[in-house]
Amino acid sequence: MSTLASSKAFKFRWINGQCFEFKLNNGKTVLTDPWFSGGGSMASKCPPNFTVDDIEGADYVFLNHTHGDHTANVGEVYQKFHPTIICHSAVAMELSRCFDIKLTSIYPVDYEGTYYFDGFMLETHHATHHAQPSNYSETIDRFSGRTDFAGSPELNAMGSVFNMNFILTTDQGMRVGFIGGNDDGMLKRMIGKDKPNIVLRNKMASSKHKEGAAEKFADWFSQADIQLLVPMHYETWLTDDPEFSKQVHVDMNRIMREKGFVGRVAPMERGKWYTLDLSINEA
Ligand SMILES: [Fe+2]
Repeated sequence: MSTLASSKAFKFRWINGQCFEFKLNNGKTVLTDPWFSGGGSMASKCPPNFTVDDIEGADYVFLNHTHGDHTANVGEVYQKFHPTIICHSAVAMELSRCFDIKLTSIYPVDYEGTYYFDGFMLETHHATHHAQPSNYSETIDRFSGRTDFAGSPELNAMGSVFNMNFILTTDQGMRVGFIGGNDDGMLKRMIGKDKPNIVLRNKMASSKHKEGAAEKFADWFSQADIQLLVPMHYETWLTDDPEFSKQVHVDMNRIMREKGFVGRVAPMERGKWYTLDLSINEA
């Protein structure tokens, strides 16, 4: 198949968890939920030998929520790149305190807002975490015992409450949806004229729920009118059951094909760079 012309929207890669690194056409870089290395139980779920030195840039860091598997490396990324850190306003002060981030490097945002940055526009949306069983004091207790989890118990507790999705629009108009946790109304934003072109999406439930994972995810995707879905936050499957992990995405694409939908799932190899292009190819 020969390509008549191809124009790059951006370069990007999935690193781990909900951590993506984007390089926009104007040279600016965006990092989401920085977690690529860690100690204890976190270590085995990370790509091997990946460190902050492998991150190429971070002008902006976006946090979906403040659990340790989303903030694990925010401190060292901040020390190295001095990014603007975009987070929900409720977690801003505690985030600054925990990771010694200069107050003016924090860019607090709220739900249902539109924000303009160098190279992209960000629309923020309310989000909810996959269900967790504990109340406030149980959550504080649980995180107090987690020395491998970054941030204070308080910051981690806030991670269960304040979650934020976004749709990022590049200067050229490519729209990227980012959905962690539950759908929380995002499906409604995945149809119609303002929908994204591509969506980065967490699993439909926690990693423990493997039964019917492909069918449930494909069912969600088939209701969204989106061409490409990049799955994220399935590193536990990759580590503990790589065959299952692979099969989920093969099955999702089979279901989409059989149902006659054009959307396709693109499971990225962790750490590998890809480009998203708008191309005209010989048919
Ligand atoms: Fe979480």
